Parts: sequence; structure tokens; C-alpha cells
Amino acid sequence: MKLGVLISGRGSNLQALIDACASNILPAEISIVISNRPNVAGLERAEKAGLKCLTIDHKFYKDRENFELALNDALEDAGVELVCLAGFMRVLTSTFTERWSGKAINIHPSLLPSFPGLNTHSRAIEAGCRFAGATVHFVSAEMDAGPIIIQAVTPILPNDNPDSLAARVLKAEHEIYVQAVRWIAEGKLFKENGKVIIEGVESGASYYLPPPHSAV
Ligand code: GRF
Repeated sequence: MKLGVLISGRGSNLQALIDACASNILPAEISIVISNRPNVAGLERAEKAGLKCLTIDHKFYKDRENFELALNDALEDAGVELVCLAGFMRVLTSTFTERWSGKAINIHPSLLPSFPGLNTHSRAIEAGCRFAGATVHFVSAEMDAGPIIIQAVTPILPNDNPDSLAARVLKAEHEIYVQAVRWIAEGKLFKENGKVIIEGVESGASYYLPPPHSAV
């Protein structure tokens, strides 16, 4: 399966996909990496891996529609079959999400539907949540809201701050993003009544990341 990965920054989830493709865990290849921001670390990772990469800087387009047309053309030219948003920080219009309906996924650092949007970890700590996590979901017109594929959960510890929590959740993100892409590439995902069913995964698609060893 040909993947197109959209990034805006660091690219650690991109790196997880690069590594998984290289080690044959994933029956997939990354055909193109596109960043809407120039000179980000994720582009360096893609170049180092010898991948085709492109910067499509949203600032050079007069509106979202034109930016997305460029994005869409680049994805189609590269023969992309699945779009993976990996820290891509642009809101997408329904024209784009409908074009890629069922063929675009996102990773979000919270247990959706709680905490869509930004600053998820500080909001979860602030709210006194006992657990935090991450969600891989299909992209829909509403931001951070499409059908859920897999979630990871980890306890929030009394001494956690947004950075310590983000670091722990990020490790889990890398696991579940690769797992989600793998199921899709293997043709194991089906939708039933707006929910995602995964063939052979009866216990549900979830991943538990235990707290660090010293924690109670
Ligand atoms: C991740 O936490 C992801 O869930 C969110 O943005 C962050 C991107 O990190 N959407 P990276 O660029 O993959 O390292």
C-alpha cells in the first residue's frame, strides 16, 4: 500500500512508519512526505530515509482551497492510497476529507472524543483525569472526530507534567500508528454503523502503556 505522510514538524510518528516499512512489519511503502512548513525535522528524517519529500507551504496559497488542491495533486501524482496525518497542523476542509474518505487517518494525543484540538496533555492534567492516551482515527470533516481505529491508554501520575505525560504518550503513539496502518494495509478494517471493526481482533483495538517502573 502506498502511503502519503503529511507532517508539520518533528516527525517522530513519521519515523515510526519509516522504520516499520524498512523492517517489513508493514506491507506498505511511503511514496511521499509532505510538510506545510519548510525546514522541519520531519523533512530531514524523510530525506535521510531517501524518501520523496515536498514542502507545500500554506502561506503561499491565497486560501485553504488552493492549498488543498496542491496537496491533493501531489498525493495523487505519487499514487498515494492512504494518507497518514502525522502531526499535520492544518485544518482540512470537507472537500479534501470527502475526497480521501476512508483513505485518510490521523493520530491525536488524547483519548477522543475527550480533548480534541491543542494542548491535550495540560488539559487532561488540569481536568484531573486519571488516564491519558492517544487515538488513531479516520479523518472526517469535523476535526479530531472520525471513526476510531485504535486507542492507547496510560495512567496520569500525580507528579506528571504536560511534558512527562506527552513523552510517555508519544511512545504509545508510535506503537498504535504502525498497528493501525498495518491493519489497513492488510485489508482487515471494516466499518459497521459508523464504527470500525477489525478482523481477528475480538478484544478490541487498544494498547495499555504501564506507568514507569518506580510509580505505584
Ligand atoms: C503527536 O503528538 C501527534 O499525536 C500530534 O502531533 C504530534 C506530532 O509529533 N498530532 P511528531 O511530529 O510525530 O513527532
